[in-house]
Amino acid sequence: MAKALVIYATRTNQTRSIADLIAEGMRLSGVDVTVINVNEYEKKGINAADFDAVVLGGATYHGEMIGSMKTFLFLLEKADLEGKVGGAFGAYGWSGEAPGRIFSTMQNVFRMKMAKGPLMLKSASLGGGVQMAQGYGKEIAGMLS
Ligand SMILES: Cc1cc2nc3c(=O)[nH]c(=O)nc-3n(C[C@H](O)[C@H](O)[C@H](O)COP(=O)(O)O)c2cc1C
Repeated sequence: MAKALVIYATRTNQTRSIADLIAEGMRLSGVDVTVINVNEYEKKGINAADFDAVVLGGATYHGEMIGSMKTFLFLLEKADLEGKVGGAFGAYGWSGEAPGRIFSTMQNVFRMKMAKGPLMLKSASLGGGVQMAQGYGKEIAGMLS
């Protein structure tokens, strides 16, 4: 069974809800998924390189990705993720810079095999958010088979 790691950075849990829905979509497609807050990565001794897919989410604040995800990307640079499947997502209010920046870091720095684009949602629960987030999980799962 393919293994995926979903890591989110959030302040008010919107990005966490999206993470859980993406994980649900992947599980429905038969993927073994682990979901963690970015703060748990080192504490739990997790190594992203042990997974077939890595999906990263961060909320946008003040026109930037949330600080904890920015710091985490520097840490993750040390893991060898080249060629692994990836996706990026995040909750936002109006400009939503974070998902695209996470996505392009994974593509250009980590050299991962990325989904078609980042997933940006104003809310996990409104305006088709549930279907879009689950669909994103399914898209990523499809890249693993
Ligand atoms: C102080 C503050 C600044 C924000 N700045 C932005 C911003 O620059 N661009 C944007 O799209 N959303 C911005 N937002 C909206 C958040 O991204 C939005 O509330 C999002 O759902 C938060 O996700 P989270 O619950 O995962 O932290 C801001 C929110 C707050 C409270």
